[in-house]
Amino acid sequence: MIILKQRCRTTFLISSILSILISAETTASDPIAGKEIYNTTCVACHGAKAEGNDAVGAPALAGQHENYLVRQLANYNQGFRGAGKSDSFGQQMAAIAVLVKDPSAQANVSAYLASLGNPSSQLRLTKPAVVTTLVIRLIKPAAAHVMALMPAAINV
Ligand code: HEC
Repeated sequence: MIILKQRCRTTFLISSILSILISAETTASDPIAGKEIYNTTCVACHGAKAEGNDAVGAPALAGQHENYLVRQLANYNQGFRGAGKSDSFGQQMAAIAVLVKDPSAQANVSAYLASLGNPSSQLRLTKPAVVTTLVIRLIKPAAAHVMALMPAAINV
């Protein structure tokens, strides 16, 4: 009786673990498939690195949160965004969002975009480097000049 109970428990445990693994497998987003979607459908407006393009009113998408992107794509499809008559940018995006109506396509393209580095944070990282380079460029010749004068000053 006890052995039977234990067997039941083990079977239950194994089947639970398997079902969790299977559901994780089916719901996980696929950024590689998302890259494919991006490069065929989105790149023209949002840019090669999803850095955005002011000329067409398309914002940067690189590094944006995955859930937020999924929600916006759904919002365009449901008419919460891009439905206003004078919202020409929104209308353009709404027309494209129809192409990613499938929730798994939305999840995949969003996962790909979230995996990209945020271009503005990259810019912020390089700013101190630029300042350091400028300071070194200005100070180095001045220091060299002072050093050149040193022996003369000591000899006097
Ligand atoms: C014809 C040009 C065009 C194409 C192609 C395009 N977009 Fe857009 N996208 C825009 C414009 C313009 C906006 C700004 C819309 C607005 O102001 O509501 C936008 C906005 C968005 C937003 C909202 C961003 C935010 O911060 O709220 C998302 C998400 C988005 N696009 C994803 C995509 C994806 C994914 C694709 C490819 C399936 C795509 N776009 C293709 C022009 C385009």
